Parts: sequence; C-alpha cells; structure tokens
Amino acid sequence: MNVALGVGGGIAAYKSAELARALMERGFTVNVVMTASAEEFIRPLTFAALTGRKVITGLFSAASSEATLSSAIEHIRVAQENQILVVAPATADLLAKFAHGLADDFLTTTYLAFTGRVVLAPAMNTNMWNHPATQENLKILRARGHEIVEPDEGVLACGMVGPGRLADPQRIAELVAAGKVEPRRDLEGETVLITAGPTQEPLDAVRYITNRSSGKMGYALAEEAVARGARVVLVSGPVNLAEPRGVEVIHVLTAIEMRQAVMDHLNDATMIVKSAAVADYHRADAPKHKVKKTAARMSLELDPTPDILAEIGRKKGDRLLVGFAAETENLLEEARRKLESKNCDMIVANLVSQEGIGFDSDENEVVLVERTGETIPVRRASKRAIAGRIFDEMIRLRLALHASQ
Ligand code: CTP
Repeated sequence: MNVALGVGGGIAAYKSAELARALMERGFTVNVVMTASAEEFIRPLTFAALTGRKVITGLFSAASSEATLSSAIEHIRVAQENQILVVAPATADLLAKFAHGLADDFLTTTYLAFTGRVVLAPAMNTNMWNHPATQENLKILRARGHEIVEPDEGVLACGMVGPGRLADPQRIAELVAAGKVEPRRDLEGETVLITAGPTQEPLDAVRYITNRSSGKMGYALAEEAVARGARVVLVSGPVNLAEPRGVEVIHVLTAIEMRQAVMDHLNDATMIVKSAAVADYHRADAPKHKVKKTAARMSLELDPTPDILAEIGRKKGDRLLVGFAAETENLLEEARRKLESKNCDMIVANLVSQEGIGFDSDENEVVLVERTGETIPVRRASKRAIAGRIFDEMIRLRLALHASQ
C-alpha cells in the first residue's frame, strides 16, 4: 500500500525521517511531499535516500520552464496513487489550511485532491495547540472523518511544558498500519446528565436576576461526552450557543425549572455534571406585571432556590456526581466544603477572578478536587480539552471508588 507522507515545517520535521522508515518497515511504500518550510528543517535528500524514491518539494516545483501537462497535474497523480495521506508534523498552519480548503502549495493541493484515508499528527507550541482557532480547526477535521494522532505532553523545543510534541513516530506508524484510529468510545453505555448556563429568576414581568455564565463549559462537556459514545441529556439555562449535535437538550429558565428537568432524568443518569451557575436566590412571589418606578428606594425580599446539587447528592446512589465551584478566594477550602456538604465525587473548582479564563472565555484553568482526597490542577486549555480531562478523571475515579469498596 502507498502512503503519501506530508512533512510540515516544524522542529519535529526531523522525526518524519524515522516515521518514513517505520512505515516502510511495516510494508508501506512511502512517497514524501515536503512543504517549503519543511525544507528549512530537513533536507529532501534525507528522505530520498531513506525511501529510494523521488521527493516532492516546495511550491509547485513542477512549474519550472520545462513544465508539461503531466507535471502540472502531479498533485492529482500523487493523490490518486496513494491510499493513505499521513501528515507529520502537521503544523497549526497546515491544519488551518486543510480545515478551510486553502490550497497554495503542493501538499495542500494534494490534500484537496485526495479522497482516501487522512491521518494527521500535529506538533506545535502548547499555546498554539490550545488556541481556540487550532481547536476549532481540529473539530472541523475530525468531523470530516480524518484521524488525529494527538501530540504528546512534555518539554517542547521552546522550553514550555505541555501538549504539542509530535507523537512517537513508531506509534504513528503503528496506528497507520493498524487501520483507522478510532476515536475513544470509553463513555459508551453511560447516560450523562449535564446542566449548563445561568438560570434567570424573574423579579417582575420585565426584570430578572441572573448569574454570569456563558454555558460554554457545559456545552463543551456535552460535546465531549457524546463524541466518546455517551447518551447525553443537557439541561440548559438561557445561553447563546448552538445545540450540540446528538445531544438531547432541555431548555429551562429558572432554578425551579432546572431542578424539575434534572429530577425527571436522574433515574436514567449514570454520571451527572452540574456546571450550571444556578441563582441562589429568587423572588418567590414575583408579580406578573411590570413594577412601576414610584418608590424612592426599594429593597427586595428574596428566598433561596432549591439546591439541586445537594438534592442529587442525597439521592445519587452509586451515580458519579460532579459539581462546580466558581470562587474568587479560598478556592480549595471552598471546593472541599462543597464536595463534603453536597456529597459529590468531584468538584471542578476555578478562580473566576483570573483574566482570560472562566466566564465568557473559550479557555479555562481548573483544579479537580476529588472524594479520594486527590487534588489535580489542570493547566489553562480550551474548554473542550478541560472537558476531556474531567471525563478522564471521572472514569478513573469510578474505578478507584469501586476498588476501595
Ligand atoms: N448549585 C445547584 N443549585 C443551586 C446552587 C448551586 O445545583 N441552587 C450547584 C451548581 O450547579 C454548582 C455547585 O452547586 O455545581 C456550586 O454552586 P455554588 O453557587 O458555588 O455553591 P453554593 O453552595 O451556593 O455556595 P456559595 O455560598 O459559594 O454560593
């Protein structure tokens, strides 16, 4: 079988030589296509010597003075003669171009003309990897059915520590040889009940009180859970987000409505994640008409709303229950207090006073406080990546709790 190996311009480009060899050892014929910037990192001769085949380099290298029709359509030939396109390292730039169909060099035009299996092994700086633009592009590429070999975590060439290092070339070759890199389906058989967004508590016919919350974290949790094979019920307060595909969404406004929707689905649920920012107080007897501005001063009498999380905590049985704690101070003490008082298995705690994360942002940075006593800091990352870590930990926690019983 023939593999077109696209090499992007990154420090990891030298590892593609090992990948080419590892693919050949597994019986593949390897045709290397290098981008112009890849040539800054590794010589085409290295690949030519390793594979014993012509290496395609740079821009339309065929568009030289003796260009013929056959050389001008060489990218079509490469696209047709290879069954698998592997791109390693796939730089942030290449991911963006593939996602949006930009085709300004040999590799990107080959990609567009290619109809076979595509395997992408990204490598880049951690911040570039975590950037919402890159994560959005990955989402598009995954939805297109492409296989992504996630980068490893570690010390990067730039000195940063985090995800971004090209996956081990031997592992990439193994995955290519093994057939399709299936997305993880480790939540299959689970019913995950998620709450998201704020609640809105009417004060009269036109006014309400609410909490700051975009709902992005809860929606990211729902997308992640459904991608990993779960049945997902999302109880959502008022937010400006599109309903995630494959998720059963129940729209509510008030804490009382949210409680009802949650209780209606509690029986089916095996995991519950309460990321909603529920209003703690409401006006129980809110007038149905608009209150006129007649008084010089006014004060509001508010009653507590039902504490949904605490109620689930009392009824949960062996369901896994995860609450959230958004704090401005004493993060860990508050998280631990909520974990105990609401009988949760885990609290996802975040300091909402930090800039660039939390509320409206696409990124977050949290600490997972667990019933086992463990405290796990999760570095700043996209909300989708944080959602992934939360489910990883929930699965691990369930095993740990079962083992200790
Ligand atoms: N929560 C809930 N029902 C409420 C209030 C909160 O289910 N009426 C849940 C939230 O969804 C979140 C967790 O409880 O998962 C923590 O919410 P928070 O408001 O921080 O907790 P409180 O116990 O209200 O503590 P605080 O005094 O800090 O407001």
